[in-house]
Amino acid sequence: MFRPRRALLYIPGDDWHKLEKGAGLDVDCVCMDLEDGVALNRKEAARATIVQALQSLPFGRAERLVRIQPLASGAAEADLRAVLPAHPDGIVLPKADADGLRRVSGWMDEEEAAQGWPAGSLALIAIAETAQTMIHLQALCSATPRLQAVIFGGEDLAADVGAVRTAEMHELAFARSWLVLHTAAYGLQALDVVYTNFRDPDGLRSEARRARELGYAGKQVIHPAQVPVVQEAFLPDEAEVAWARRVVEGFAQAQAEGRGAFAVDGRMVDMPVVRRAQAILARL
Ligand code: COA
Ligand code: MG
Repeated sequence: MFRPRRALLYIPGDDWHKLEKGAGLDVDCVCMDLEDGVALNRKEAARATIVQALQSLPFGRAERLVRIQPLASGAAEADLRAVLPAHPDGIVLPKADADGLRRVSGWMDEEEAAQGWPAGSLALIAIAETAQTMIHLQALCSATPRLQAVIFGGEDLAADVGAVRTAEMHELAFARSWLVLHTAAYGLQALDVVYTNFRDPDGLRSEARRARELGYAGKQVIHPAQVPVVQEAFLPDEAEVAWARRVVEGFAQAQAEGRGAFAVDGRMVDMPVVRRAQAILARL
């Protein structure tokens, strides 16, 4: 089981004020950014600022991730070599493919060995955001045992495909489902798209609920106000928890009485339903 990653908050890596602010939030993961959230002429400053943040800010329970630049930029290795000695919990690789993940994981192997950290202890998370990556998801998901989660980069994918972004997300529906099918098959977490309208908590909540219904473990966020909305949306609500308890209790009783299938709230319950109920209780 991986640590919960219900909300993954991007913080521009060159913005000390936002990094400090992020450290004070009750958030599952912070992702200090060196990619698209940072201007080209600020990359160097962002590396130094992220190192300082990792060394000095009290992030509490939050997982500390760094998003490096993509391999195609030519700057990924330098980003990694700059930030890894400050010991983040993991690295996020954008525009990822299987070869790129193996290269990055190899550099992480080297750093772990050099520092005396346990082999494989740094987490790796991929962003799937090109059409090429989406049609080769099996290779991506099985590229390296270091990989823990795959992020659905819906905005970049829409641009790559030439799709028109809509609130209903029908243009991304297939890819969004396709991705979670692959992460489930390989025992990885799936993290949903960014909801860019950060002043619309209701829209965010319903998009996050949809993602959870599909099997996503969490969602990327870009603003502090989005964090509690998303973290709550990825937890089962009271009614679901009460139902799950009735199912699990009913199951124990039915087993004791030698029955496989039984009824809860007038609906048939059998093994797949029991497993779903157990999974709900496991998230609490
Ligand atoms: N992390 C931490 N703190 C953040 C934050 C973030 N991602 N986004 C905003 N804040 C802070 C602001 O600095 C501000 O702090 P203050 O009240 O102490 O001044 C407070 O939260 C409220 O922010 P607000 O004024 O509503 O928004 P803004 O106009 O400052 O910022 C964005 C809006 C979109 C520019 C900003 O949220 C942001 O930079 N998000 C991340 C973007 C990013 O990384 N994109 C790449 C990945 S998709
Ligand atoms: Mg992107």
